[in-house]
Amino acid sequence: MNFEKYFMGKIRSVVDKYGVKGRIAVALSGGKDSMAAFHALTKFKFELIPFYIDLGIEEYSKVCMEYAKKICDILGYKLQIIKLKDYGIDFSKARKKCSVCGTAKRYLMNKFAFEYDCDYVATGHNLSDALTFAFNNLASVNILNFRGMKPVLPGNKDLRMAGRFKPLFYLKDDECMEYVKMNEIPYCKEKCPYARDAPTIELKEWIHEMERKRNGIMLNFAKSFEKIEEMMTRQQKIRQCSICGYPSYGNICKFCKLRRKYGKI
Ligand code: AMP
Ligand code: FES
Ligand code: ZN
Repeated sequence: MNFEKYFMGKIRSVVDKYGVKGRIAVALSGGKDSMAAFHALTKFKFELIPFYIDLGIEEYSKVCMEYAKKICDILGYKLQIIKLKDYGIDFSKARKKCSVCGTAKRYLMNKFAFEYDCDYVATGHNLSDALTFAFNNLASVNILNFRGMKPVLPGNKDLRMAGRFKPLFYLKDDECMEYVKMNEIPYCKEKCPYARDAPTIELKEWIHEMERKRNGIMLNFAKSFEKIEEMMTRQQKIRQCSICGYPSYGNICKFCKLRRKYGKI
């Protein structure tokens, strides 16, 4: 089987298994994975709405946005842009940058998809990232953070929650890279100046090393983690934030707590 067929087949298996259809907001970071996901999704019969969240991380955010615009121009789409500073949050003043960034991205992706009446928000998360995240949580005894191990999560309109769709969930890092090169897709090679530390990079290398020795082990890990997540989510109840009405595990969502901290609400 040629590579392109193999790659598209992996995405199609997710689409078919979960019956993904309709209107999809595509979260573009400018990096190789989300650009590959967007490019591949244009070959399906979806209505796609690409968007970029400008976090205001110095030059880095600007450069990434240019790449997101570039792929939209190539594929004939208009890029929607969301600015974190419009929510009163000044990233340069945030102390725990990665945590602010993570909370803001998760929240704004969902809000965007919900407001645009999308059935799903698609992200570029791939198999290598998902496993690195899972192992990192295991390594730091952070079991409660065990989520994101399913390629598709259905939405819930009553809870203002858009569905989540990870088209590249069964594809590894190097496979996404190969797709990008093969299709000459432009992408931002720069890393975020606050990129997470070396241990996760080593963890990812270790996972890939295992895969080289035992082909298929990554997929098996993912399937096991998916089962663990299923067991855990039965115990966690999602409700609505009492301030903004979007989904939250607590009374007030993490994003509203951030806005409170930065003084706008
Ligand atoms: P990360 O959280 O950086 O590992 O990115 C995971 C996925 O989230 C990417 O593949 C994108 O789909 C999405 N994403 C990350 N950063 C942004 C951003 N600034 N704007 C829109 N989507 C993003
Ligand atoms: Fe979020 Fe760097 S702090 S991408
Ligand atoms: Zn809220």
